[in-house]
Amino acid sequence: MWLYLIIMRGCDLSRRGDNVNRKLLAALGGAVLALSLAACGGEGAGGDTDTSGQDPKDLTIGVSMPTQTSERWIADGNSVKEKLEGKGYKVDLQYAGDDIPTQSQQVDQMITQGADVLIIAAIDGTALSGQLQAAADKKIPVIAYDRLIRDSKNVDFYVSFDNYKVGVAQANALLTGLGLQTKDGAKGDKTGPFNIELFAGSLDDNNAHFFFDGAMDTLKPFIDNKSLVVKSGQTNIEKVAILRWQQETAQKRMEDLLTSTYNDGSKVNGVLSPYDGLSRGIITALQNAGYGTAANPIPVVTGQDAEIASVKLINDGVQSSTIFKDTRLLAEQAVIAAEAFLKKQAPQANDTKTYDNGVKVVPSYLLPVVTVYKDDIKKELIDSGYYTAEEVAAGQAK
Ligand code: GAL
Repeated sequence: MWLYLIIMRGCDLSRRGDNVNRKLLAALGGAVLALSLAACGGEGAGGDTDTSGQDPKDLTIGVSMPTQTSERWIADGNSVKEKLEGKGYKVDLQYAGDDIPTQSQQVDQMITQGADVLIIAAIDGTALSGQLQAAADKKIPVIAYDRLIRDSKNVDFYVSFDNYKVGVAQANALLTGLGLQTKDGAKGDKTGPFNIELFAGSLDDNNAHFFFDGAMDTLKPFIDNKSLVVKSGQTNIEKVAILRWQQETAQKRMEDLLTSTYNDGSKVNGVLSPYDGLSRGIITALQNAGYGTAANPIPVVTGQDAEIASVKLINDGVQSSTIFKDTRLLAEQAVIAAEAFLKKQAPQANDTKTYDNGVKVVPSYLLPVVTVYKDDIKKELIDSGYYTAEEVAAGQAK
């Protein structure tokens, strides 16, 4: 009986979504939250009809991905589709060309065409509330894929990586590349001061904030003790963010920084970049300005996603590092969560505290991340079957 009361109270709290109540709900813990999800009609676990005994070939999973201009989302889309089709499900995979109205329209269409579960990597984390309400009205469970969907109670589950730790890993890779620290976090043999510049992702992507916070918490002591100097003075996320994670915008900002801040003969020694696409834009700007020679070495540039073009740059000693997030594992978790919903079960979360989307804490499954420097490419990316040695050498995936 007490369990029933907690579950029903949990439904009530999560619907009302006020701050204190959300904290209380989060405190109820994973198991009870999972049960409460399963019991909350209209906010979660299950479609209009009972799909639990249905043949997978009669069930459709709508998969909405943000863009095909970045290779990682193509890999994500393909992995999710392959894995679901391997289990016999029908898959409606759509890419939205980084255009918010297109993504809204595609999700609308998935709903009207009778999707049984939705897996969505949002372009703008706050722009899909209407679609999510329509999904909830039809009791279609929604899984946020890698990017949290914000400001809606109708997000049932979140699969991602530990995004704060991604930022910490990027900052540590910058410190290691500069020699202020060793790979295992011990004091390095260099003391600086080093000039660095900071970049962040798209402000409408929840992840961008987690990456930046993790990185800045890690860099702060080094900025405070002056072994790192952000010469432009631009340390605010609003100042350093790159809308839609565009490579060209990052290149332009780096060019502007070089002209405005480094026209006195001083050099940039390191750049915190949160994503490989941005890193490539930043590197192009630096190379165009004459960096990349023995006398004028390329700064330490970080990254994320282990995109093949950047893995080649790391192998060639141009980019310093990337953070590898195995999209095969992420796709697998999305499929596990989708199947749980289809069986009227709550997917298993391993984090029920961190991802407050502004309305509720979304139960999440977070995967670990790996920092890849040149020496790690073979073990982490080739031996694991993510890329072949030929693909790394060519900088192109087949
Ligand atoms: C983020 C994602 C990163 C990167 C970036 C740009 O949401 O977590 O891994 O892919 O988008 O696509």
